[in-house]
Amino acid sequence: MPEKSVANIGVVGLAVMGSNLARNLASREGNTVAVFNRSRSRTDELVAEHPEAGFLPAYDYEEFAATLSKPRTAIIMVQAGKGTDAVIDELVQVFEPGDIIVDGGNALFTDTIRREKAVRETGINFVGAGISGGEEGALNGPSIMPGGSDESWVTLGPILRSIAAVAEGEPCVTHVGHDGAGHFVKMVHNGIEYADMQLIAEAYDLIRRGTGKSPAEIADIFAQWNKGELESYLIEITAEVLRQVDAETGTPLVDVILDQAGAKGTGAWTVQTALDLGIPVSGIAEAVFARSLSSKPAQRAAASDLPGPSESWKVSDPDAFVEDVRKALYASKIVAYSQGFDEIVAGAQQYGWDIKKGDIAAIWRGGCIIRAQFLNRITEAYAEDAGLVALLTAPYFREALGRTQEAWRRVVVTAAQAGIPSPAFSSSLAYYDGLRADRLPAALVQGQRDFFGAHTYKRVDKDGVFHTLWSGDRSEIETEPSTH
Ligand SMILES: NC(=O)c1ccc[n+]([C@@H]2O[C@H](COP(=O)([O-])OP(=O)(O)OC[C@H]3O[C@@H](n4cnc5c(N)ncnc54)[C@H](OP(=O)(O)O)[C@@H]3O)[C@@H](O)[C@H]2O)c1
Repeated sequence: MPEKSVANIGVVGLAVMGSNLARNLASREGNTVAVFNRSRSRTDELVAEHPEAGFLPAYDYEEFAATLSKPRTAIIMVQAGKGTDAVIDELVQVFEPGDIIVDGGNALFTDTIRREKAVRETGINFVGAGISGGEEGALNGPSIMPGGSDESWVTLGPILRSIAAVAEGEPCVTHVGHDGAGHFVKMVHNGIEYADMQLIAEAYDLIRRGTGKSPAEIADIFAQWNKGELESYLIEITAEVLRQVDAETGTPLVDVILDQAGAKGTGAWTVQTALDLGIPVSGIAEAVFARSLSSKPAQRAAASDLPGPSESWKVSDPDAFVEDVRKALYASKIVAYSQGFDEIVAGAQQYGWDIKKGDIAAIWRGGCIIRAQFLNRITEAYAEDAGLVALLTAPYFREALGRTQEAWRRVVVTAAQAGIPSPAFSSSLAYYDGLRADRLPAALVQGQRDFFGAHTYKRVDKDGVFHTLWSGDRSEIETEPSTH
């Protein structure tokens, strides 16, 4: 039997993420960690394999609660969805008002809002915390995005700060906002991750098919890019993946991996939520759809003999083309982040969260999958102007887009002419041009809507709402008087 009430933190769910997080917690000064898993074998394994951690194992929920000091604080790391609900139901039976239940899984933020509301009725605090960084991050320092009440943050803050990644001396954790704010921001993080990965994949594909360079040669290009403004974890691991040779066949690993990308759903959540909020996250959406398209083998096989460009394609100046692709990647990446932050702003407005955008960029600098040098530029942009209406209009990004947009256009044109899909590059460019357009064909869309559905329109030259009598004499009537 473990000693009673001596653990300041507990972990429920000891699969890969939970075990690693528990080990991370145990390795930090001042933490004593209680551990519990539904199947006993995982608990026994973890405790046996890591005696140095000094874990306090519990074998039922009563024992787990008794092992924790008050206010009891437990992080749930179980399969998101039903598993999370099942564990919460058990914990509220054995916890007391003032105690804290943290869900560190990948929950949908609306589930977190629902759970927070239900658990709050018992007087227990419920915190949905997004945790990014995969297995490695959980063990050595993830980026953590907690929501929940201010009260719970008082106890939880120091514990989470102790285990988070550190970027430029700062722990990568901040109290994002109340109830589902943390999981919302984690969801958008994952959406941006989808876009970033797709953009990198398109860059690789264009370089390979345009220059004929081998994966190993392209790995060197990515390694080089990682020394400049594109420096990021995803660029770094791309070089590693491209350099890997399959032991069985001796060919580059990337050539033996089936080209059908999987997804666990957080990218789709980001896009679904953006659609509900009316926020164009086109780069993220294209990345999600590109994975879906890749995973349609029957359609791809049936379409494989559809006509494409007649001439085979190779670029005339490989070095110049690689540099153009680098610039296109950087510009498109700015768009992806700008769109992601638009969604965060809209979500905060919709759900009443006070989210500090600069702080979010700062906690993504370490531990998480989208960690990147240029997040500092985002923090700076919001520090200079907290009310920035679009990230890509901040001075730094304006300058960056100014020096990359011509290359970006050349890459998108070249890709289209060569018949190479570049959905994220091209949709990001279309978004950029849409946003900066003086006048959009939305005027014509409004005219069409008025024609078939009497949906009315506004005019550029006077106030009021108007309708043209399309099936009558085509004169215009004012349907709502002007406010002046
Ligand atoms: N893997 C990653 O890179 C990653 C990254 C970030 C976030 N996450 C999130 O972290 C969480 C944990 O991920 P994971 O990969 O370590 O584990 P997982 O495979 O998602 O889940 C397995 C764990 O959930 C427990 N579990 C499932 N249903 C349960 C129930 N009804 N009651 C109690 N326990 C139940 C299992 O217990 P038993 O041993 O008894 O089956 C096991 O401990 C998930 O929400 C995941 O989305 C994962």
